[in-house]
Amino acid sequence: MDGVEDPLGAPKAGLSPRLDALAAYVASFDTFPRSPYRTEDGGLTEDAQAGARLFDELDCMSCHAGDILTDSPEGVRHDVGTLQATSGQRIGGPLDGLDTPTLLGVWATPPYLHDGSAPTLEAVLARPGHGAEDLTEEERGQLASFLRQLEGELPTLEDAPETPCGCAARGRGASLPVGLLLLLVGGLRRRRYSSSST
Ligand code: HEC
Repeated sequence: MDGVEDPLGAPKAGLSPRLDALAAYVASFDTFPRSPYRTEDGGLTEDAQAGARLFDELDCMSCHAGDILTDSPEGVRHDVGTLQATSGQRIGGPLDGLDTPTLLGVWATPPYLHDGSAPTLEAVLARPGHGAEDLTEEERGQLASFLRQLEGELPTLEDAPETPCGCAARGRGASLPVGLLLLLVGGLRRRRYSSSST
């Protein structure tokens, strides 16, 4: 068939319905499904708002960074206590850490961690070494609720209003997740910028 022999030649859309469908499927990999855990009007539940504050206070965004919630573009690896002898090696050397996964759309992709050893988000957070192990069970539930309500775009300011719940106030800086909110707003701005520039 004309046009298909050189894979890097002219655009191939329209030549094969099956390949067009495959291309649409592959192109969908950077979109994320809506979360069924949100409120009816698409906002964060109260639990998730409390979880957003914990996410900020625990500095989860030092690795799950920016508007895609991962520092992967920086090419860094981290060991958050999940590496095992069975985790494998890097080519030509030991495995010193893992690429940070995004948390967008994470509600839809259990089981979790590189080896699938955590059946739920709560189980991820209960593992020592990841920064959430000192939370109470209730707080871990709130943090998991927030994670379950992450979709393709970070929640906006209106989704995470400033009402302090008091539940996370124990000496970790009492009130507002200013850092997170700034990052959220910054993230949304960057996203708009990048989608308008493509
Ligand atoms: C030091 C960097 C770092 C910090 C800080 C960090 N994470 Fe992670 N996170 C990782 C890495 C690396 C993985 C992959 C671990 C694995 O697959 O074994 C991960 C995996 C996860 C996963 C599982 C995702 C999946 O698809 O399997 C969740 C959920 C998660 N982190 C939530 C959090 C939360 C909530 C916080 C804050 C309490 C946090 N992380 C703090 C680096 C970090």
